[in-house]
Amino acid sequence: MAINLVLMGLPGAGKGTQAQKIEANYSMLHISTGDIFRNAIQNQTEMGKQAQKYIDKGELVPDEVTDGIVADRLNQKDIYNNGFMLDGYPRNLEQAKALQKLLTDTNRHLDAVINIDVDPDILVKRLSARYICKKCGATYNKISNPTKKAGVCDFCGSEEFYQRDDDKPETVKNRLDVNIKMNTPLIDFYKEQNILYNINGDQDIDQVFKEIIQVLDNLSN
Ligand code: AP5
Ligand code: MG
Ligand code: ZN
Repeated sequence: MAINLVLMGLPGAGKGTQAQKIEANYSMLHISTGDIFRNAIQNQTEMGKQAQKYIDKGELVPDEVTDGIVADRLNQKDIYNNGFMLDGYPRNLEQAKALQKLLTDTNRHLDAVINIDVDPDILVKRLSARYICKKCGATYNKISNPTKKAGVCDFCGSEEFYQRDDDKPETVKNRLDVNIKMNTPLIDFYKEQNILYNINGDQDIDQVFKEIIQVLDNLSN
């Protein structure tokens, strides 16, 4: 059965970290709007240049841009067959409604919205300690999740890492503020639809994953 999933959570909650683990165990495809924007910025596409203005400030990219990107991806055939795991979308009520319309129009629906819940104070520290493998994109943390061998990526062996531009302290604060504001209406929207699952994200990465697996396994039974 194809599972259609949304991974919600404030910046640094662990959406990308969990998505990587889910991807290794389930068939659905990972769609991270943040990753799509960062790729476009790196390739200096027109969309990338537009998006960068917002991302650098920790603001949301305008909905018409983001909704369009997600719609393009969700309308591809592999997504129909394998299901999807949206990471970082929707982020406000308007996006949630756009997603709902797109799915309804194509006879699909969301199976679950997993909200990875972490106190914002913890997230500021987490984000300043994040580093990412340049080659394969694997995410690590200086404090909570370092590479097994110092300076060497567990997955691809690369020794080159980088920090995200928007993980600078000034930007992190605004990113958190912007996202906190949008979060509650979104949670309420999905709670009302009875598809919201709250997971405590202030636990060991493997424990968070275990609890997500429980939700997913219950869906497929
Ligand atoms: P995006 O890339 O989605 O950034 P974000 O939402 O701020 O989330 P992050 O990727 O920072 O955090 P994450 O939850 O993935 O955490 P991670 O697993 O890396 O978006 C970037 C920007 O793009 C936005 O600001 C916006 O401008 C734009 N954008 C994107 N989507 C948009 C949309 N829908 N609409 C409009 N604009 C949009 O983990 C973080 C760190 O913590 C890592 O170091 C990790 O190792 C560590 N960690 C993970 N789990 C744990 C744990 N359980 N315990 C301890 N440490 C942990
Ligand atoms: Mg992420
Ligand atoms: Zn790597």
